[in-house]
Amino acid sequence: MKLSFFGTGYVGLVGGTCFADLGNDVLCVDINEKKIDKLNQGEIPIYEPGLEELVKRNIEKGRLRFTTNIKKGIEESDIIFNCVGTPPKENGQANLKHVLSVAKSIGKHMNGYKIIINKSTVPVGTAERVGKEIKKNLARNIDFDVVSNPEFLREGAAIKDFQNPDRIVIGVESEKAKKIMNSLYKPISRVGRPIIFMDTKSSELTKYISNAMLATRISFMNEVSSLCEKLGANIGSISRGVGLDSRIGPRFLHAGVGYGGSCFPKDVKALAHMLESCDLNANIIRAVDYVNDRQKKSVVPKLKKHLPDLENKKIAIWGLSFKPKTDDIREAPALTVIEQLQDEYAIVSAYDPEAIENTKKRLSNIEFGKTSYEVIKDADALLVLTEWDEFRGVNFDRIKNLMKQPIIFDGRNIYDPKILREKGFSYIGIGRK
Ligand code: UGA
Repeated sequence: MKLSFFGTGYVGLVGGTCFADLGNDVLCVDINEKKIDKLNQGEIPIYEPGLEELVKRNIEKGRLRFTTNIKKGIEESDIIFNCVGTPPKENGQANLKHVLSVAKSIGKHMNGYKIIINKSTVPVGTAERVGKEIKKNLARNIDFDVVSNPEFLREGAAIKDFQNPDRIVIGVESEKAKKIMNSLYKPISRVGRPIIFMDTKSSELTKYISNAMLATRISFMNEVSSLCEKLGANIGSISRGVGLDSRIGPRFLHAGVGYGGSCFPKDVKALAHMLESCDLNANIIRAVDYVNDRQKKSVVPKLKKHLPDLENKKIAIWGLSFKPKTDDIREAPALTVIEQLQDEYAIVSAYDPEAIENTKKRLSNIEFGKTSYEVIKDADALLVLTEWDEFRGVNFDRIKNLMKQPIIFDGRNIYDPKILREKGFSYIGIGRK
């Protein structure tokens, strides 16, 4: 099939590349010329395992092309994916200006029946709004369908998630669109992955509820972790004990330093706004957001119990990205922690396998190192904020020799407190005895 993807951010680039890899003819469109030039040379603007190789392979095969030509992107495709950003407004509501501007262009350049797919996370009713915007700009009467097909990919595992989704959710309002969507996803559904069809509004809401449910589980466990600390219980044992109940399941029950990223924080706030603008109470979802914020801000006060005066103390940070296997630092807990440390006049040294360049663009006065060991030299404390694999198997004797004071804050509970204490470290974990 002939597909075009508008917006070469995370969703558009991964989606476009993966659909090209399934044999479709894909044209990715973006107004950012520099980005498109680089992409045409196979240069990827984000770090995502396996993506670069896949982009290069599909460019070589001639199935994946990049352009800034909007008209071409519309005229040459049967299915148009709208993957442009929906940044939050002040009140948490998603800003639809980019989504609607793509819809306007589609209306102007439409040259035959097309399916327009909203891939970006958009408020309920957006499919309808996009349909109206297209219609308003049509020069003549041309049939089209707007479909909602939310994205459930996780950063760091996006390609795997695309090829092996738990489910594919599709909101459609016509039989014709349903049939085409079915054949588009056939290569994935034929290996047993379920496609669920519903109306567009339910599909749009499914996306918010999925992310909000996952965020709720995390905030709930983070709140329980504080109780564990007060009562002397272990959050890890509780997660396991609770997660083995098949009605609950084990995933997304890990307490830590709070969730980050471009999705959970934004979608939780947007859902709260949606409820309140319908004159409904958003108690649960507001609490999820509140607890997450509190969790991010609890790191420095916990550290201060061991190191009361942070002025001129060297604090090493391992992990800047909001989670492993990505260079994305949006809403990353590390940013909140670093800002708090700097407010207390601490000297911050930091290491991350992929996210240093992005952090440099956001924060200043940080000493960055090329290795994890480099940044802990003479440090008064080490804070582990992202659970990258390379932090798991480290040499604690070497760490102790390098540090000035052996204090470790393990923000993702990846170390064994007993071993660390035996080695003479002061160990601070999350919800652990
Ligand atoms: C999330 C969803 O998992 C995807 O399904 C969805 O497509 C995506 O948002 C989106 O809306 O685009 P992502 O933000 O990439 O994906 O990352 P997650 O793996 O969900 O992790 C989010 C945050 O939760 C991270 O900061 C992670 O460290 C934290 N987390 C996750 C925990 O603190 N505890 C857990 O048990 C799990």
